[in-house]
Amino acid sequence: MADMYTQRLSIALFVMTFGLELCLVSTSAELQRFNQPLKDDGSLSFLVIGDWGRRGSFNQSQVAVQMGRVGEKLGIDFVVSTGDNFYDNGLTSVQDNAFDESFTKIYNAKSLQKQWYSVLGNHDYRGNVLAQLSHHLKAIDSRWVCLRSFIVNAGLAELFFVDTTPFVKSYFIEPEGHRYDWRGIGSRKAYITGLTQDLDMALKKSSAKWKIVVGHHGIRSIGHHGDTKELVENLLPVLQANNVDFYMNGHDHCLEHIADTQSPLQFLTSGAGSKAWRGDVKDRNRGGLKFYYDGQGFMSVQLNTNDTQIAFYDVLGNIIHTWHTTKALHQSS
Ligand SMILES: *[C@@H]1O[C@H](CO)[C@@H](O)[C@H](O)[C@H]1NC(C)=O
Ligand SMILES: *[C@@H]1O[C@H](CO)[C@@H](O)[C@H](O)[C@H]1NC(C)=O
Ligand SMILES: [Zn+2]
Repeated sequence: MADMYTQRLSIALFVMTFGLELCLVSTSAELQRFNQPLKDDGSLSFLVIGDWGRRGSFNQSQVAVQMGRVGEKLGIDFVVSTGDNFYDNGLTSVQDNAFDESFTKIYNAKSLQKQWYSVLGNHDYRGNVLAQLSHHLKAIDSRWVCLRSFIVNAGLAELFFVDTTPFVKSYFIEPEGHRYDWRGIGSRKAYITGLTQDLDMALKKSSAKWKIVVGHHGIRSIGHHGDTKELVENLLPVLQANNVDFYMNGHDHCLEHIADTQSPLQFLTSGAGSKAWRGDVKDRNRGGLKFYYDGQGFMSVQLNTNDTQIAFYDVLGNIIHTWHTTKALHQSS
């Protein structure tokens, strides 16, 4: 009797342990890393653009021309895309000519022939997600680097790209007639818990002077979509706890800068790659608001050991907002 009991108990323990292991394996994994080649002096500059792929329309082409010009002037090292890369519904397959007509042919300036590090937006999830993540696109245009979540190690700076679309609960429970391609996500809850833990772990291990997190959805925004509740609850505490310097996003079709009221974190929205001028602006008196522009444009980031310079540009290439921040030498994070 006792033997039988012991045996049952050990089977139960075995199942529990094994089950737990499976669970850990499926929700937590180290994020893939890319090493960005550096300039000799360690300084870094890049452009940030979001919400763009419309085959050149809605001033996408005009913005691209100015990106080329500014990219040349700053000698940029790479480009960051904050998602909603292909409208209206992502890519249909790796053969979809939107990839050529909205990306390769539009961003054809010499200075933009650098790595493009991209996340997915909610519109990308409405297409064939696996196509947009596919290695085949890199064979068509070698600049394209698009993963759900990943890390770019750029010496002084480390950039953490986070897949924010699965955080947003309404896309799952009330998709409003849209079809989302959730292949590879599994359980939403386990996915976002695992991702948040992976990010927290990676940020804790980081010794980079500048820590930058990139996602599609805004944490703080006074634009049409406003704050993303799920990111305020799940992501923001992790960024604040790990001394993240900048959170960069798209989703709202505007250029925007809001300073966090509780930490040195700066929220920077660059989601103005094509369609803009929605005219839907929420609280212009919001605490921490430094800048809001409803029209098209993009952002540049220049950083070195001691300081970072951010600039926003409109469709004509005029600088419409700048921000400069310094870090003392002895400061370790
Ligand atoms: C394109 O940009 C110009 C200059 O700012 C603006 O007048 C025009 O309305 C823009 N077009 C669209 C479709 O947003
Ligand atoms: C950073 O600041 C230190 C001390 O003020 C200075 O010696 C150094 O040249 C600065 N580095 C850069 C890249 O500006
Ligand atoms: Zn979006």
